Amino acid sequence: MSQNQTPLFSGLLQHAKRNPIQFHIPGHKKGAGIDPEFRQFIGDNALSIDLINIGPLDDLHHPKGMIKQAQELAAKAFGADHTFFSVQGTSGAIMTMVMAVCGPGEKIIVPRNVHKSVMSAIVFSGAIPVFIHPEIDEKLGISHGITTDSVEKALEQHPDAKAVLVINPTYFGVSADLKKIVEIAHSYHIPVLVDEAHGVHIHFHDELPLSAMQAGADMAATSVHKLGGSMTQSSVLNVKEGLVSVKHVQSILSMLTTTSTSYLLLASLDVARKQLAVKGRDLIDKTIRLAGTMRKRINEIDHLYCAGEEILGSKAAYDYDPMKLIISVKDLGLTGYEVEKWLREKHNIEVELSDLYNILCIVTFGDTEYEADQLVNALKDLSLEFEHRAAKTEPVEVLLPEIPVLALTPRDAFYSETEVVPFEESAGRIIAEFVMVYPPGIPIIIPGEIMTKENLHYIKKNLEAGLPVQGPEDDDLKTIHVIKEYKAIL
Ligand SMILES: Cc1ncc(COP(=O)(O)O)c(C=O)c1O
Repeated sequence: MSQNQTPLFSGLLQHAKRNPIQFHIPGHKKGAGIDPEFRQFIGDNALSIDLINIGPLDDLHHPKGMIKQAQELAAKAFGADHTFFSVQGTSGAIMTMVMAVCGPGEKIIVPRNVHKSVMSAIVFSGAIPVFIHPEIDEKLGISHGITTDSVEKALEQHPDAKAVLVINPTYFGVSADLKKIVEIAHSYHIPVLVDEAHGVHIHFHDELPLSAMQAGADMAATSVHKLGGSMTQSSVLNVKEGLVSVKHVQSILSMLTTTSTSYLLLASLDVARKQLAVKGRDLIDKTIRLAGTMRKRINEIDHLYCAGEEILGSKAAYDYDPMKLIISVKDLGLTGYEVEKWLREKHNIEVELSDLYNILCIVTFGDTEYEADQLVNALKDLSLEFEHRAAKTEPVEVLLPEIPVLALTPRDAFYSETEVVPFEESAGRIIAEFVMVYPPGIPIIIPGEIMTKENLHYIKKNLEAGLPVQGPEDDDLKTIHVIKEYKAIL
């Protein structure tokens, strides 16, 4: 089959054209039984292929037909030995990777700034995390990747680890020297698992960082939906044979996946793969140029800084994705969150995320000069409107979350007896819940870690700034679950 073909999407279209009488789920039956307003909005075409794993349409859990063909084409396009489609986002693919290689009590080497799905997988599997401190960018107030030296050190101390997990690239688009990390881990016969949520496109252009498969990694969980043009929630899990068992990976993925897989999502993976394989290089090329011009124009605006290749040079910031615009707004005397809200209210612009100091805007092949101008002009307005504040703003001291000490394995903490204490009084206690700002969804504290005064201060700063702090059962974060302590009875 050629990369121009879309066996899954075309198979669905053929099936819909035959227009069979359906006595199977979904019960809306090609839209006839769905709310008419929704039907009119979403359209009959989409509803006609909202189907289920009946005989002619193959089954994601045991693919033998059109899904198998679509996955094989994807594997070729991504340079993998096997590609599995995920309808449960990259979170589902990440949990599969971790659970496929780690069991209870087994070690996994992970950067501390991982996405919550990695931590969830660690809780589910009962694995013991060996954390690596990511490199911190003090100027931007963000974490980058991990260094080859720290991986080397972690493996020297823990040669019995079952895997090394790397984020490549990070949410902010920075990547480590993945090829070297893979070489180091493989010298210990330890597989490398890559969180490639923000890197589906990097495989298709040589000016972008090396993809996980290009670097020789063993598995990669890749969000096609984020930057590759498929529908939200659809991702792939790419696997190279050797250090991991492909059959075992498939079994775990199946255990974690709904039996009612969405064919709309699956078909969108098939067509996104075609577009990336056939036209990806040209589309990405145009996008890199567009983002480059935007970066230059933003850097001409007073008090704003859009990070570029000058942030590279360390072992953790080895390469970067120029399609991500990290815009530092702290010199305007504003938080990233204030700018996010201002752009929404004044210019009807939505950004990817904001934090205390920055906003992050992603530029993709869905953008044109028009969107670029809208953002640049809005940022010019922003700078003018807040110039008076910039003049009064002292250099802002960048606050970064301190990495807490892990006292219990995340799973033990999660399943321990807990008590609820006022959040303000939780310093020194072993925490039993996750606390994170979403996006980016990187936990500030995880179950099993000891809260410090600095962590409390950092969480409070994020709350005061209005950032979406999530995780604990108490949405208002007035209280938090901690591991129960038993005091001597008087
Ligand atoms: C670094 C990272 N890994 C994994 C994920 C999970 O991806 P998904 O939303 O496709 O489940 C995200 C989502 O934001 C992420 O930022």
